[in-house]
Amino acid sequence: MTHGLKLGLSADEVLTTTRAVRKRLDFTRPVEREVLQDCVEIARQAPSGRNRQRWDFIFVGDEATKTAVTRWWLAGLRAGAPGGSDTRDPSPTGWQRIAESLGDLAARLHEAPWLLIPCVRVESRAELADVRGQAGAWGSVLPAVWSFMLAARERGLGTAWTTAHLTYEREVAAVLGIPYDTVVQAALTPVAYTVGTDFKPARRAPAESFLHWDRW
Ligand SMILES: Cc1cc2nc3c(=O)[nH]c(=O)nc-3n(C[C@H](O)[C@H](O)[C@H](O)COP(=O)(O)O)c2cc1C
Repeated sequence: MTHGLKLGLSADEVLTTTRAVRKRLDFTRPVEREVLQDCVEIARQAPSGRNRQRWDFIFVGDEATKTAVTRWWLAGLRAGAPGGSDTRDPSPTGWQRIAESLGDLAARLHEAPWLLIPCVRVESRAELADVRGQAGAWGSVLPAVWSFMLAARERGLGTAWTTAHLTYEREVAAVLGIPYDTVVQAALTPVAYTVGTDFKPARRAPAESFLHWDRW
């Protein structure tokens, strides 16, 4: 059974207009659990390595827990992101725009009706030591996360993929009671209704800048 309203977007529209929503989250409107469960029903059709479906989705709605998680998320944000600055963002002000809207989200993240922390189960953290292990683990949870976000968009909900809290993954695991050795957190997204639903396709690097035929 489907709960709540659906926008009636085509598959292509959902795929091209699901944005990282930071400024247009409605922090005042509650999101029913049933709607989240509908999105999870869709997400569980995602592919996973050997069809093991070793994902876990933790929705945090409790105020005190959201505040505690947000504190670690903010600490992670202040610590900065690892990795280089290589980008294909075609807009000269791209990062500036993201940083500005990230500031808006940072100020209110704890007010989001829900924080979703998707996780993947591993035999042990050693599984993440090589590329094959990593590809298998992340590839077994991130498609489901994106499916969730797409299903959410169709229901008027907004999400914003973030990884900032992972600098303090162990601390957040302690807050949420996650068994750290065998359950790895993959991301954190607020989930809220959006203010308006008229999201547009974004500017992206043209396909010729990354598309290869036959060899690199
Ligand atoms: C792996 C990954 C990590 C991300 N980390 C963050 C983050 O920490 N904070 C944030 O606000 N957005 C984060 N994002 C969202 C990106 O900034 C966003 O997807 C990108 O800017 C494109 O946004 P658009 O689809 O709205 O155009 C992340 C996205 C991905 C896929």
